Amino acid sequence: MTVLSETRWGLPDTAVRDRRAADPRVNLSSNELHHPQVESLAREMVDGFDPAVLRAYPVQEPAAAAAGALLGLPAHHLLLSAGSDAVIRLLLTSLRGAFPGGLVLQEPNYEAWTQAVDAPLWPLRKVTSTDGTATTSAEAMLDAAADAEPALVVVSWPNGPAGYTPRLDHIAELSAVCRSRGHLLIVDGCYAGFAGSPLKVAELADDHCLVLLSWSKMFGFAGGRLAVACGGPDLVHRLRAARQEDHVSALALHALTRTGQVYDRFTHVWQDITATREAMRSRLTALGHHVPESGGNFLHVPRPTAASAAELTARLSHSGYRVRDMGLTSGLHHHVRFTVAHGPAGEQFLDCLVRHLAEVGGA
Ligand SMILES: Cc1ncc(COP(=O)(O)O)c(C=O)c1O
Repeated sequence: MTVLSETRWGLPDTAVRDRRAADPRVNLSSNELHHPQVESLAREMVDGFDPAVLRAYPVQEPAAAAAGALLGLPAHHLLLSAGSDAVIRLLLTSLRGAFPGGLVLQEPNYEAWTQAVDAPLWPLRKVTSTDGTATTSAEAMLDAAADAEPALVVVSWPNGPAGYTPRLDHIAELSAVCRSRGHLLIVDGCYAGFAGSPLKVAELADDHCLVLLSWSKMFGFAGGRLAVACGGPDLVHRLRAARQEDHVSALALHALTRTGQVYDRFTHVWQDITATREAMRSRLTALGHHVPESGGNFLHVPRPTAASAAELTARLSHSGYRVRDMGLTSGLHHHVRFTVAHGPAGEQFLDCLVRHLAEVGGA
């Protein structure tokens, strides 16, 4: 029997996403939420779900109203989606040809922007940071937005994968420039909880700025496939009219409706992850590793060469951890990225990482 992953259909290898594959290692490669309380919070989010509702097609209104109450926005300013990837695909498909300036993409960025099926059909301008810092990344985006033809302008805040986290007022400034130039700004707030508040990012939403909030990392709900895109009424109406084929399941809608009840406890989870991230960074820095600042639930360890990045990744894999070799990703050459886990699991990983770093040498 031929399976899809063997046929490839002429697609690049990256089209067959490895995060969907079964893997016995601890996954510190995909920035899922690792915290001792995640399981009990997930149970609370799905608690009270009545399997009888699975008989009928899901009804979005109550969940949209609950999400609106949480985010401080009317329900018709929200688009509910089965994950951010589906929104990215929807934007690239439904808005193709609408922006002569094409896609102005903060680089590095989430790979779906360049790997979605319609991505190659967009004129693409990648905007990099000149020195690998948040400030120059934000400045470069401002400059690009100021001189581009009307475009789809995309930033992630904090940036995934780099971790850049400029002050939110810089993003508000970018939003103002985008409005004046006729761009549509997308702020992907997938990691916003680890740098402040997703509610603050949602305040930027209007008809010129779509704020994308994923439940995957912040609420430990990657397997539930849920994201909320916040915009203005006209923008959301237009996107809804494009007929998403990715409907949110009744179970995910139930969890969304209940997110307000667990939200405060998640803010403590984010604070724990943030504190652990800074403690891990300090320990690695004290050992001579120049770990860049990150506003997400992940850190990067730079290695001197591609070979040493590959060796560290392989050693960690042998020890049971899946981490990500960033390869030649812009600004992250030879960096090895890992997800910050809070609690004993995170401590064990860090000890293992430090041991391997000492063995391979070359801070
Ligand atoms: C910046 C960024 N945006 C979006 C996503 C995907 O989120 P979702 O699980 O909602 O599709 C990721 C996943 O790694 C990401 O890093």
